[in-house]
Amino acid sequence: MLYEGKAKKLYTTETPNVLRMEYKDEATAFNAEKKAVFENKGKLNKAITLLIYEMLEKKGVPTHLVDDLDEVNLLVKSVDILQVEVIVRNVAAGSFCRRMGVEEGLEFKTPIVEFSYKSDELGDPLINDDYARELGLATPAECAFLKEQALVINEVQKEFFAKCGLKLVDFKIEFGRLAEDPSQIVLADEVSPDTCRLWDLKTGEKMDKDRFRQDLGGVMEGYEEVLKRVKDASK
Ligand code: TMP
Repeated sequence: MLYEGKAKKLYTTETPNVLRMEYKDEATAFNAEKKAVFENKGKLNKAITLLIYEMLEKKGVPTHLVDDLDEVNLLVKSVDILQVEVIVRNVAAGSFCRRMGVEEGLEFKTPIVEFSYKSDELGDPLINDDYARELGLATPAECAFLKEQALVINEVQKEFFAKCGLKLVDFKIEFGRLAEDPSQIVLADEVSPDTCRLWDLKTGEKMDKDRFRQDLGGVMEGYEEVLKRVKDASK
C-alpha cells in the first residue's frame, strides 16, 4: 500500500506507473468530524467513477483511468496529485451558502470555479491562483488549465447527468501530473456522489453525500439510484 485516504487506498502493481485504487466503504463529512461505514459504498462509487471516466474520455477529457479491475478496484495511472482541489458550482449549496449567507438553490447564470488547498489539517481552505503560485502548488499556467478543464468537465457532466434526470449542483475534482510525463495533467481521484451534489431533476430530492451530511437517511439508496441512472444513460 502506497497511501490511504479517507475514502480510498492506493497500491502499487507489477506494472510500473500503474496503481490499484481501492474504493472504501468509509464515509466522512465536515473534515472527518462525522464518520460512518456504508456497506457497498466502495462498490457503488467505483462503478459510478468508472462510467463517468469512460464517458469523459469519449468526450476528449483525459483521466488517469487505465482499466476496470474488480468490484472495488480500478487500475489507474500513477500521478502526482496537485494539492489544489477544484470545485465547480452551478447552484448554491453547502459551504457557499454558509460563507455567503444565501439560500440553497440559487442558480448561477455562469458556473463558479473555486480552488481550495488540499489539507485536512487546515480544513481545505479556499485559495486563489496567487496563493497557489506563491505556495508552489500550481503555476499560473496550470491554474488556468485547471479552471478551463473544470469548466469543460462541468459542461460534459451537466449534460450527461441531465440525461440521468439529475441536476449537477456542484462537484469537487482533483488533477494529477502523470508520473511518466509530469507536463501532462489529467483528471484523477473520483467522480461519485461523495464528491458531487446531485438532485433529482423532477423532485429536487438529494441523491448524494448530503443525505449523510444532513442525516436524511437512505444514503446508499441514493447512490444506488445514481448508479442505475448512470448505467442506463451510458448504454
Ligand atoms: P462544499 O459546498 O462543502 O464546499 O462542497 C462543494 C462540493 O465539493 C460538493 O459537491 C461536495 C464536494 N466536496 C468533496 O468532494 N470533498 C470535500 O472535502 C468537500 C468539503 C466537498
